[in-house]
Amino acid sequence: MDTGFTVAQLRAAVADAVRAPSLHNSQPWRFRLRDGGIELSVDPARRLPATDPSGWGARIACGAALFNLRLALAVAGTPARVRLRPYPAEPEVMARLVPDLPRRPTPAEQSLHAAVARRFSNRAPFWPDPVPADTRWRLGEAARAEQCWLELLIGVSAVNAFAEIARSANRVLERDPDYRAELAEWVRTEPAPDGVPAAAGGPQSEPQDLLPARGFGGRSRAPGRDFEPEPLVVVLGSAGNTATDQLVAGQALQRVLLTATDAGLGASMMSQPIEVPGAREALRLSLGRFGTPQMVMRIGYGQLGRPTPRRGVDEVLDLPVVPA
Ligand SMILES: Cc1cc2nc3c(=O)[nH]c(=O)nc-3n(C[C@H](O)[C@H](O)[C@H](O)COP(=O)(O)O)c2cc1C
Repeated sequence: MDTGFTVAQLRAAVADAVRAPSLHNSQPWRFRLRDGGIELSVDPARRLPATDPSGWGARIACGAALFNLRLALAVAGTPARVRLRPYPAEPEVMARLVPDLPRRPTPAEQSLHAAVARRFSNRAPFWPDPVPADTRWRLGEAARAEQCWLELLIGVSAVNAFAEIARSANRVLERDPDYRAELAEWVRTEPAPDGVPAAAGGPQSEPQDLLPARGFGGRSRAPGRDFEPEPLVVVLGSAGNTATDQLVAGQALQRVLLTATDAGLGASMMSQPIEVPGAREALRLSLGRFGTPQMVMRIGYGQLGRPTPRRGVDEVLDLPVVPA
């Protein structure tokens, strides 16, 4: 009996994996089949040295891609057992997935999987409609199911305290010319298989905005108007902050985002206060949480976002060379 995954299973699952979000849409992942297992590695050629010097963002993105891989395999009836960072001598290998006992997918897996192709960052203003209590609970459950926590910032003073931290982190980042140059390098005005299309970048920010937006070169807005009335801002955190914790957090991030998509919500990510160490610590202290904040999300109802491009499956696969 063949006990491993096949190339066909690898290709099908990778088509979903690459829909995961990544910092500046850098898509820092590679996939291969080794001894019947699917392996996901971080791609050192796609590092963002100025924005992500520690590799935190690349590991979050790989974790999110891993969650999509797990879902795709489970929905195809071939769920996987996962080992994170399986080889100490090969730290670039983020995860190895081997076949578990075949079983039928659960309805929850099916609905999350159906959300993979419908999830996009939505950076446009959200409508005033509040996120219902049972949906808030589901978002928290999604994080807990992946060993993480989700803190919902409730009330004007919690959101204002967070906004102060986020704006000051954004100022720190914006002062660095290398950071600004790297961001500009990943904004796309022509069709490209990676980077952030200016049209997906959301409207440009205005001085009165509560939350700092990344300048992806979006369209300008009417001056002097508030961005949106009251977004739901949530902070995702993990127990620790090792490379493995960051992979765990990436999986939780994707589960929360897909849960939001499944509930008809839009979401965008905001990581300036995570990228600046002092801001991250201030955020952790303001939440009174143990562990480490790993991502901030803005969640709400709004117009549908638009898909951003991805490299094709063949460009992210390392397949053994077949002898002629
Ligand atoms: C680690 C990480 C950090 C991110 N930080 C931000 C951010 O600060 N601002 C933002 O607008 N989007 C942020 N994003 C979202 C990416 O820009 C987005 O996922 C990417 O452009 C692909 O687009 P999509 O989410 O629509 O598929 C982040 C994503 C990841 C994984």
